Amino acid sequence: DKIPVLFQPLTIKDMTIANRVIVAPMCMYSAKDGFMTTFHVVHLGSFAIHGAGLVIAEASAVEPRGRISPQDVGIWSDDHIHKIKEIADFIHAQGSKMGIQLAHAGRKASMPPPYSQVPESDFWLDDVVAPSGGEPFKWSEAFVTPRELSVEEIQRIVKAFGTASVRASKAGLDTVEIHGAHGYLIHNFLSPITNQRTDQYGGSLENRARFLLEIVKEVRENFPKEKPIFLRVSASDLVEEVIDGPSWDIEQTVQIAKWVKEAGVDVFHVSSGGNVAQQSIKAFPGYQVPFAERIKKEVPGLIVAAVGIITGGKMAEEVLEQEKADLIAVARGFLRDPHFVLNAANELNVKAKFSQQQSNLKWRGGLAK
Ligand code: FNR
Repeated sequence: DKIPVLFQPLTIKDMTIANRVIVAPMCMYSAKDGFMTTFHVVHLGSFAIHGAGLVIAEASAVEPRGRISPQDVGIWSDDHIHKIKEIADFIHAQGSKMGIQLAHAGRKASMPPPYSQVPESDFWLDDVVAPSGGEPFKWSEAFVTPRELSVEEIQRIVKAFGTASVRASKAGLDTVEIHGAHGYLIHNFLSPITNQRTDQYGGSLENRARFLLEIVKEVRENFPKEKPIFLRVSASDLVEEVIDGPSWDIEQTVQIAKWVKEAGVDVFHVSSGGNVAQQSIKAFPGYQVPFAERIKKEVPGLIVAAVGIITGGKMAEEVLEQEKADLIAVARGFLRDPHFVLNAANELNVKAKFSQQQSNLKWRGGLAK
């Protein structure tokens, strides 16, 4: 019997993942001073116990003011390494791989976490930074007016992505994902809506992509060369129907996909939106898959991950089988159902071919219907 693509292993550089299911990064607002906690051990560890091929830890800030909220994870200090390594060791013992998302929140920083009260003194309202200051495209009323970064500050942030990659490697992580999506700092630079600079970091696509490409280069130089690098992007600002004038779109995304591939990105993780309050998102199962498919067609050799309401094994398998993507990332599906992988296996009748990991699965709950 043919093994469904979803359950075929994939080797990217030196990282072999046992199946094609990735747990997408999810902020859990459960960190203190950037430190992961027991919450993260249990939360991330459980996905590995239940068979996800790769678990990507949430957006982790490369400098303190790059956190979305005071309760975000950070990777700006060597002291953060220890807890991340504890989780990586556990995940490896389950036969899964672990990555972390390296992030800077840009103009969406210093926000209140959604589920808890934080003292006012924990915020940094006067140090929320972006390619351009001012508030013409304020995301929501709760957002702080950002201040424009100097070139010197930009270059320090680029370096911070590099030192964060060294820490990720010291923690034993198999990969890092650069967060270039959802209206955070890198996306702020890419989009002509949020980037109104007139220096080498603004204007032409090449200039708007300069910050991203410098980060990719810095991460590639600082993360072990045998380990893969992911980049997550928003393929569009999703405002073509509501804003007249230039915005970030799939055509520009195709171009930067080619550039980052040359610069050493191995996996392109395709999301959308998050940069502009006026965006028009029509979310339905698989709604972002066409963006992934377009990248996969136009940039041969670049491994592509699809994400966005991918609801189960059959749907995931169809995306892979039709070669619209190489990997399937799931976020909310895992929150609702930590057994997402087991249920996908049942849906697809996967019983044969046990990797170390799949035999663990069998032992823990059985693959048979
Ligand atoms: C997210 N998402 C997200 N994305 C990202 O790139 N970094 C992050 O830290 C987070 N944090 C986060 C927290 C929570 C609670 C949710 C639900 C989502 C977006 C997520 O990775 C994913 O792209 C979307 O949720 C769409 O995929 P699903 O949920 O439809 O599978």
